Amino acid sequence: MASVEITGLRKLYGDVVALSDITLTIPSGAFYTLLGPSGCGKTTLLRTIAGFHAQTSGQIAVDGAPIETLPAHKRDVAMVFQDYAVFPHLSVHDNVAFGLKQRKVDKSAIKTGVAEVLDVVQLSHLADRMPHELSGGQQQRVGLARAIVVRPKVLLMDEPLSNLDAKLRVDLRAELRRIQRDLGITTVYVTHDQEEALAMSDIVCVMHGGIIQQAAAPLDIYLRPANRFVATFVGANNFLDVDRTSGGAVLRSGGADVAARISAEGPVTCAIRPEDIHAHPPGTAIDPGRIVLAATMREISFLGREMEIFAVTEAGEEIKAVARPDPAIVALPPKSPVTFTVDPDALSFFARGGNGDRLP
Ligand SMILES: Nc1ncnc2c1ncn2[C@@H]1O[C@H](COP(=O)(O)OP(=O)(O)OP(=O)(O)O)[C@@H](O)[C@H]1O
Ligand SMILES: [Mg+2]
Repeated sequence: MASVEITGLRKLYGDVVALSDITLTIPSGAFYTLLGPSGCGKTTLLRTIAGFHAQTSGQIAVDGAPIETLPAHKRDVAMVFQDYAVFPHLSVHDNVAFGLKQRKVDKSAIKTGVAEVLDVVQLSHLADRMPHELSGGQQQRVGLARAIVVRPKVLLMDEPLSNLDAKLRVDLRAELRRIQRDLGITTVYVTHDQEEALAMSDIVCVMHGGIIQQAAAPLDIYLRPANRFVATFVGANNFLDVDRTSGGAVLRSGGADVAARISAEGPVTCAIRPEDIHAHPPGTAIDPGRIVLAATMREISFLGREMEIFAVTEAGEEIKAVARPDPAIVALPPKSPVTFTVDPDALSFFARGGNGDRLP
């Protein structure tokens, strides 16, 4: 168990700013996930922690001790890669034993160490197989076993599940988390899959353009995104412009008065999650406490467990709603009028310009 503290970390590749002033704290034993689109700097940050390349500036400390100038093999940090990185000419057992042999651990300790770790990743029965006789999921478990057998203080994983098919990815997701919890090992995990990040992590750190946008518990990231980028990248959101009037502000789409809810100056956008928008067939009585948006139906996708409704408001803004299938809605033909309502508490507000920061 070890905490990781990163301060003012910066990494340039020529003119490319891959990491810009990264400051973060990873509590001891946490499962900490770096989430963001391609090119946002996730791998660069992981490799900088591992010591595979030097930072341009900044500090990295493990349990308070600076490591940023140590060579990779002295950092007590292990990494699991996307493409397994197992030795093809060594058996499962020998692959896992490799790191211990390098550290000159004696034979009997290697034997028990490897047996223990193979048990953790549930590969004991395949110890004598060669890598080409294993499935992708089994090879990735070998990769994980190789990393944890040396008992590193920090485990780094760069998209370890992305080469696996969807079903296996979900199975292995739960298992990785179980193993991480059992060992209590501080873990930095990289993914661009938001569902994976939300499902596995204690803390999700959303990155964009080499900058941390928000680091928080999964539920906070989802319910209280710090800016418009996070609100768009994690889950889906509808953005509706809010117009200023002399008396306050209104939602342009429905004319609903949202004056009481925003005090900030300047142009504002309102965000509503698709699952917070309820569709009502024509003629339904509407609860007066709800915000009403009148719209025209464009298309409905019936997906079994849920239906997706695509519509356009009177102001021409596109709206997506998601709900349990309702026969009265599914039956509505395109271009029919539909009334949407939203609980006022479900609205979030963001500045329309600049960084699109969340407004209180
Ligand atoms: N060796 C390099 N030389 C120059 N630029 C690089 C190098 N490695 C990465 N970059 C650039 O640094 C930025 C961050 O790259 P990085 O690999 O960290 O992104 P990532 O978040 O891991 O993306 P992905 O999800 O595609 O793996 C990108 O703009 C990338 O083009
Ligand atoms: Mg990457």
